[in-house]
Amino acid sequence: MKIAVLNGSPKGEVSVTMQYVHFLERRFPDVEFKFFDVALKIKKLEKDDKAFGEVINGVAAADAVLWAFPLYFLVVCSQYKRFIELIFEKNAISAFRGKYAACLTTSINFFDHTAQNYINGVCDDLGMNFFGSYSAEMNDLLRTKERKRLKAFGELFVRAIKDGTPAIRNNAPLIMPQVVFDVQDIKPVDVEGKKVLLVADNLADNANLQKMVERLRQTFSPPAELIQLKDIDIKGGCLGCLQCGFDNVCVYEGKDGYINFYNNKVKTADILFMAGAIHDRYISSLWKCFFDRSFFNGHTPALQGKQVGFVIAGPFNQIANLREILKASIDMQHCNLVGFVSDDLGSSSEINAALQTMASNAALQGKVGYIQPPTFYQVAGTKLFRDAVFGRLRVVFQADHRYYKEHGMYNFPQKYYKWRMINGILGMLMKIPAFRREFFKRVKAEMIKPTANALKRTE
Ligand SMILES: Cc1cc2nc3c(=O)[nH]c(=O)nc-3n(C[C@H](O)[C@H](O)[C@H](O)COP(=O)(O)O)c2cc1C
Repeated sequence: MKIAVLNGSPKGEVSVTMQYVHFLERRFPDVEFKFFDVALKIKKLEKDDKAFGEVINGVAAADAVLWAFPLYFLVVCSQYKRFIELIFEKNAISAFRGKYAACLTTSINFFDHTAQNYINGVCDDLGMNFFGSYSAEMNDLLRTKERKRLKAFGELFVRAIKDGTPAIRNNAPLIMPQVVFDVQDIKPVDVEGKKVLLVADNLADNANLQKMVERLRQTFSPPAELIQLKDIDIKGGCLGCLQCGFDNVCVYEGKDGYINFYNNKVKTADILFMAGAIHDRYISSLWKCFFDRSFFNGHTPALQGKQVGFVIAGPFNQIANLREILKASIDMQHCNLVGFVSDDLGSSSEINAALQTMASNAALQGKVGYIQPPTFYQVAGTKLFRDAVFGRLRVVFQADHRYYKEHGMYNFPQKYYKWRMINGILGMLMKIPAFRREFFKRVKAEMIKPTANALKRTE
């Protein structure tokens, strides 16, 4: 049996993820694992059809494909994303069709599920038999229990390939919107001096996107600034070198235009719109590159306080996973999400109305400085990063450590001495049945008691 391993780490062989695949390789000596460093070699694969053809021939000759990759900003890295785009662009789908597939990720378990959903969607679109996903925390290989679990996953995958077990499809095929968008009824929106920036990847890609962006731009008075990522000199994707973790200085600093663009344009905007078309089950790899390269800010909310909206062309409303990824990304940045407008939401006049509403909401919510409260994404994500940076990631992410200290983000619950005392005393008393009965009799009333004072306050 042959398994083609599509390595999605920009670090190539020197990758944490690849060690997990080597573990499987050792446990299953009868299986031939063929490795393809597609993320590392993306520039060559883009330009050199022969090199791309070799990967595709490797896939065609295999019984199954293992998509093995690290998490990058809730999905795959931009280089891997580009490889997936090339499969469709270069008509290589037939090599994948009907093949078994599995997904193996390493990460710190921050949105591993959305990355896996993405690959599942891509596999379904390629007509593959998607067996399932395995999420390894990056240190799992050091634990006996986790090695056993990974081995079991390998066994089940190999058995499914041998038995020809049919897969369950999780994603219905995408239906492209047919609407032709035409600009109507612009009502100028005054942002009272706030800076509005519209960032698109490449407007020449999609006629509806171009018109929606122009419509939104003209809705503001004065018109919003528009910048296309294709016009920014971006030399390449994030390399995963982690050097920025020390002092927020990226190895690309001074070598391309991304950091200047991010610091001087994106960070200084009050209202930010991101615009792009759907490519497979995400937006473009160029947009992914934008997100990945922002890693020089570490795990901090570098865009805090902005109003952010999205303009998307394509079947956005059919891809709940993408909505979750974008919503969570904005939540993690402590921004206010003013909306998603896509050209699959209805007729041209409905899209016009939605763009108008999004513009007015951004202006009004920006004016009052409204930022929606954090949801599960930010609450849980912040705790996850807090624990990781305080613990074993601190040496690498020293800039995050300083930021977390300065901003009171090391808010571990064991520091709440008052509550530790109350819990200790009440915990003991709750062991007494009569006290427990009385406690539950009064619990509802007691729960709203502390709010009584807050209700009297005027602020
Ligand atoms: C730019 C960048 C973005 C990352 N984003 C995520 C993420 O969204 N979620 C997560 O759990 N880990 C994230 N990580 C951590 C990596 O996924 C993790 O360290 C992985 O094991 C690295 O694997 P590799 O050595 O095979 O590249 C990120 C790392 C980098 C460098």
